[in-house]
Amino acid sequence: MPMVADVLPFKVSPLSGALGATIGGIDLSQYLDAATVAALRRAWLENVIVVFPGQTLTETDQERFCRNFGELEIVRSARAQDAGHPSIMLITNVRDTGKVTALENGEMYFHYDQCYYEVPADATILYAMEVPKEGGHTLFANCYTAYETLPGDVKRRIDGLKALNYYDYRRDPTVRPGTLNPDAPRWAHPVVRTHPETGRKALFINRLMTISIEGMDAVESGELLTFLFDHMEQARFIYEHKWTVGDLMMWDNRCSIHARTDFDPSQRRMMRRITVRGGAPVV
Ligand code: SIN
Repeated sequence: MPMVADVLPFKVSPLSGALGATIGGIDLSQYLDAATVAALRRAWLENVIVVFPGQTLTETDQERFCRNFGELEIVRSARAQDAGHPSIMLITNVRDTGKVTALENGEMYFHYDQCYYEVPADATILYAMEVPKEGGHTLFANCYTAYETLPGDVKRRIDGLKALNYYDYRRDPTVRPGTLNPDAPRWAHPVVRTHPETGRKALFINRLMTISIEGMDAVESGELLTFLFDHMEQARFIYEHKWTVGDLMMWDNRCSIHARTDFDPSQRRMMRRITVRGGAPVV
């Protein structure tokens, strides 16, 4: 009787003890049948982040692959969308692309994508097109294990709490804001959310975008958030991805945060990003 791993049409290898897997032996520019998509979904849910190295993908190929995991979210934070590809955003410091671009340079604090909207993305899929010689790595932290390893009294204290998430793409795109812009989007979500597919609980806050805990004064909220951020960002929960051109990374935005290391702004970095529409977080 063959093992499940033997009959998969691809090979899954762990990336780190914290989270993540590499998936090899599959060409994502090709049509994928339903059984393959279902197996990929299982591997993704189990590993939280998955990387597919060595891919050559057009915009249309990436869109087709992403649609296997849900409806594509249109770009909500830029002033305009690309008319032909309204879900594509380039994360790049290259200025002459003629495309919708954001998050050009620099280190970025840990965050969940779009947690400042009522309905954040379920998944983000980032394709590496150009990478700097050094730096510009993306770190991923496992927010299931961050939650599960909290002391019992802290779990009881945060149970049922909500926190305000805020983000201003134009003013403070990479660091925690000092003051809030009244026009920037914000939304309060549960501090702990239950993943709708795995049933596991994850911490759903982050240093870049979570501003305060509802119903607490500023000092108490600030101290509790700082404790939780420091807990989530411990090395034991983190995998650091050093990009190679052709990597396609898909992360579960319901149970992992990510951050970016600094890099030389004179070096080109170009990543093509698509997000998959989610459901509102539930306790
Ligand atoms: C992002 O936060 O979506 C971008 C991450 C990166 O540039 O590595």
